[in-house]
Amino acid sequence: MVKRLSLELEQLKKNVENCRKCPLWKSRSKPVFGEGPPNARIMLIGLGPGYHEDKEGRPFVGSAGKFLNKLLELSKIRRDEVYITNIVKCYLPENKASDEVIRMCTPYLDKQIEIIDPEHIIGLGSIAVEYLSEKYGFQFTSIEKMHGATLKISTVSREVKITIMYHPAAGLRNPSLRRIIEEDWKRLLNY
Ligand code: URA
Repeated sequence: MVKRLSLELEQLKKNVENCRKCPLWKSRSKPVFGEGPPNARIMLIGLGPGYHEDKEGRPFVGSAGKFLNKLLELSKIRRDEVYITNIVKCYLPENKASDEVIRMCTPYLDKQIEIIDPEHIIGLGSIAVEYLSEKYGFQFTSIEKMHGATLKISTVSREVKITIMYHPAAGLRNPSLRRIIEEDWKRLLNY
């Protein structure tokens, strides 16, 4: 079972490595497909790779990743038990993704969700949560109003929990948010 899921993810990863659907492939070093157990129960979704992620080909290894590691510790979740990926798989130089790029890249994420079939998805930041709200049909007003909330959504195959979180980088840009983000993560598994 895990072997089959790994093979499916490996194939999908190759498709991402060969992807030329948008111009971002020209400026990336390594696409950042995602990492974690193929049968992870929890999936984290960020926006897209930054400078360090692009060099290493791994998600959340720069400063936002260090803060994310701390947040995972606070919620007593091991990083190696969750699957971590992004909306966009190639380096975003300005840390901004156009609607067009998101539209072209998210079929890869849809497929990752289908293969891994997580019970719980944590959206990191507004762009990830907007994607989730369209996919699972819930109303997303704003990250300021909804951060920390966990919604239970029934799909044809299972009930999925979706948690809305600030992007960890928001806590680095705005130190007054740090404590709020940490409190959200401490409460994460106590719903
Ligand atoms: N920010 C993201 O959204 N994703 C990463 O992988 C790193 C930083």
